[in-house]
Amino acid sequence: MKKTILTGLRPTGNLHLGHLFGAGQNYVKMQYDYDFFLEIADVQALTDNFDNPEKVRKNTYEIAKDLLAIGIEPENVHLFIQSQIPEIAELTVFFSNLVTVSRLQRNPTIKTEIAQKKELFGNEGESITYGFLGYPVSQAADITAFEGELVPVGDDQVPLIEQCREIVRKFNSIYGDTLVEPEAVLSETTRVKGLDGNEKMGKSLGNAVFLVDDDETIKKKIMGALTDTNKIKKDDPANPDVCMVYYYHKLVNKDDEVKKICSECKKGARGCVGCKKELIEAMKEFLQPIKERRAYYDEHPEEVDKVLKDGTEAAKKKAEETMKKVRKAMKIDYYE
Ligand code: TRP
Repeated sequence: MKKTILTGLRPTGNLHLGHLFGAGQNYVKMQYDYDFFLEIADVQALTDNFDNPEKVRKNTYEIAKDLLAIGIEPENVHLFIQSQIPEIAELTVFFSNLVTVSRLQRNPTIKTEIAQKKELFGNEGESITYGFLGYPVSQAADITAFEGELVPVGDDQVPLIEQCREIVRKFNSIYGDTLVEPEAVLSETTRVKGLDGNEKMGKSLGNAVFLVDDDETIKKKIMGALTDTNKIKKDDPANPDVCMVYYYHKLVNKDDEVKKICSECKKGARGCVGCKKELIEAMKEFLQPIKERRAYYDEHPEEVDKVLKDGTEAAKKKAEETMKKVRKAMKIDYYE
């Protein structure tokens, strides 16, 4: 029997290289060996975009197309939309009794996000909603409704998986052994740095290369990327290890090219402008197959709809089975 994987993404924007190397490539590899539920977490995205439903809806399709473009195969993955599975909302309500408000406030992921909101919005950032504070509870329902055993996530999500495990243990100890306790799986690939050298690539940081960026945008972004600031003249020797252009060559260029680039850079036999131009070409080549698949789905929106509909149907079936067990355990299985 294949193990069950569940993971989710918030539809807040298009996928960028950070998503691809940090998570997406891993999903593509894992899709053959597991029963894989991949959730587009639109309800979770609404926790901080409740006043902008158009954006969340648009991005649900964007992210679906991006995922198909990077090689997620609908035959192997149940790609589904969170809001279309009411069982998740039902389970969230039951779980909300099993966690204290102070425990949620102490959750490191939530704490960081509240701090970020304060930075962005000043004191207004302090007034957080019930829904926002409770999203870890809803995320616990996302995972357990599908009996997810493994949850591939970035390290920022680990406290949320821990929260889920606690809720599951509490549930099982009160109502009897019913739910599966999941485990986080951290991907080997580390975070992808931004074009500006920031440790993290992010949309809000303005330092990301998106999979849907057109050639002109890629060119502009790469020409502006951070290089070794100690290098002044074209033939000064430089340190590739502090240069983002070299960093991205390593991600997308061929190994022998990368070696050559490194030694030329160290010797002062390579100018930054030429090096950036080579990276632009390597990046375009790297993104080419992804863009082709993306273009296909842009031209066939009805196929995207079908993938989501089928995925959601399969996910709903699984969630319904789990909820039967949950209601029975909680003695609320009145008409079943
Ligand atoms: N919180 C995750 C993020 O912000 C998205 C997510 C929603 C998720 N539900 C999930 C991740 C369940 C793992 C498991 O990216």
